[in-house]
Amino acid sequence: METKLQIDITKTSKSKLQETDFDNLVFGKTISDHMFVADFKKGEWTDFRIEPYAPLSLNPANATLHYGQSVFEGMKAYKNDEGDILLFRADANQKRLNESAVRMCIPEVPEELFMEGLMQLLDLDRDWIPNKPGYSLYIRPFIFATDDYLGIRPSENYKFMIFTCPVGHYYSKPVTVKVEQKYTRAAEGGTGAAKAAGNYAGSLYPALLAQKEGYDQLIWTDGKTHQNIEESGTMNLMFMINNTLITAPTNKGTILKGITRDSVLKLAKEMGYPVEERFLTVQELEKALIENSIQEAFGTGTAATIAHIAKIHLNGVDYELSSKSPDSFSIQVLETLDKIKYGKVEDNRGWIIKL
Ligand code: COI
Repeated sequence: METKLQIDITKTSKSKLQETDFDNLVFGKTISDHMFVADFKKGEWTDFRIEPYAPLSLNPANATLHYGQSVFEGMKAYKNDEGDILLFRADANQKRLNESAVRMCIPEVPEELFMEGLMQLLDLDRDWIPNKPGYSLYIRPFIFATDDYLGIRPSENYKFMIFTCPVGHYYSKPVTVKVEQKYTRAAEGGTGAAKAAGNYAGSLYPALLAQKEGYDQLIWTDGKTHQNIEESGTMNLMFMINNTLITAPTNKGTILKGITRDSVLKLAKEMGYPVEERFLTVQELEKALIENSIQEAFGTGTAATIAHIAKIHLNGVDYELSSKSPDSFSIQVLETLDKIKYGKVEDNRGWIIKL
């Protein structure tokens, strides 16, 4: 591979590949051999390197540990039958990482640094990319503050890192969700649109309460009125009602701009479905559930891909959703996405980088 940046590579002397059970992967537990690291010092990104995946040493006064100045991404690479690596919409993840970074006062990562670090890491760990349906290499780029300082101000030093994990399905069966109308994930003017570590921390407690009641995840509502459906803790949400695809808009700054969300909306339009980016109200959702007029409800996300929703809890009632027929939109769009990601059809949208 032709390189533009100087990236120092230290290969592991003991690969974990042979001892990895690729048939029993738990999402995010198995980490590939190497990681990419860059440091932000004195106002610039420097010291680009790929090293064996290993623990970091941090000072207890590290700013991220106390004030959560940290943003991340989730993206995936696939392998086609010829053994090529197919990287899905990496440019969109790179842009979103920087949008999150700006919101959290973190320095942006230049596109060239992001792409070169990623490509060289993937090239080195290409044997970690599974080559079977439903499996992929999950890629976790992230940036975090590294100042050892307890004063409240943006850190002056950061690390940008990327590591990868071979993964199967995040949800192995359709999910059950509860509409949350007490706790808030995001408010207008807040950080909801950023893929910031703290957003996930704040959502854990309400999600745990729902899990204790037997639901997999929450459906978040807006922080002001709790009357508008926003997203779920692990994915954006979509509803097919009267053959129209409805999903929450991203222009209020409270919704993560999902890349799978965007891909599904583009494919839906190509497939001729009317698409509405608007808030579905809790009242509308309840009416549609009572009248059984919701044809489909599903989540979209990099990790979750397309996750079918089997049950929605709202105002004390559990509503079961009927199981999907093969010609339902969510099944068809998942098949189309998979064909693009695994190189079964030609990519004419500029979504795939092959290496
Ligand atoms: C992703 O889909 O990439 C996420 O970051 C969500 C998380 C559930 C892993």
